[in-house]
Amino acid sequence: MSTTLNILAAEASICTACVLAEGRSSVVFGGGSTDAKVMFVGEGPGAREDDLGLPFVGRSGKLLERLLAEEMGVERSAVYITNVVKCRPPENRDPRPNEIEACRPFLEKQVALVDPVVIVTLGNFASKLLLKTDIGITKLRGQSYVYGKSQRHLVPTFHPAAALRGGAEVLAKMRSDLVRAKMLVES
Ligand code: URA
Repeated sequence: MSTTLNILAAEASICTACVLAEGRSSVVFGGGSTDAKVMFVGEGPGAREDDLGLPFVGRSGKLLERLLAEEMGVERSAVYITNVVKCRPPENRDPRPNEIEACRPFLEKQVALVDPVVIVTLGNFASKLLLKTDIGITKLRGQSYVYGKSQRHLVPTFHPAAALRGGAEVLAKMRSDLVRAKMLVES
């Protein structure tokens, strides 16, 4: 991790800006290559992530790793992975608007510091937040966007948990979204 990301992670590790601080075992800040060309943004840590302090280390993470290898030809160590909220919501409930808002500065700083060419948002929470929209992921996905005022591309796709639940059709769409992300990195 670069020095500045380390400082940000240290700040996050003592954050008490929202109620999620009360139930956490760890702050799951993010991980991977700090000069990655692709950054993935999920929703929030689950139980396993909270235990280990690392993002996407459960079933969703295993699927994400497989798709990274099969569709983008990369290992997870080549990308940067983080979440909208860095602390586990109790019982894996949805993160609340005030929790998302409290954590947003960390995510925005991570984007600026990692400086990826492409951001892939996984699911509704990350996609709606970073695209500043209320439109759901089913409608959003299938194309790329420009992230904010930057030159970065943003590719919204389903959350891997949706693919685990939703089967072949969701998975096929995720695959094609990741191919789109790879093409944008290479363009
Ligand atoms: N789901 C997420 O959104 N993030 C994780 O880190 C793990 C599961």
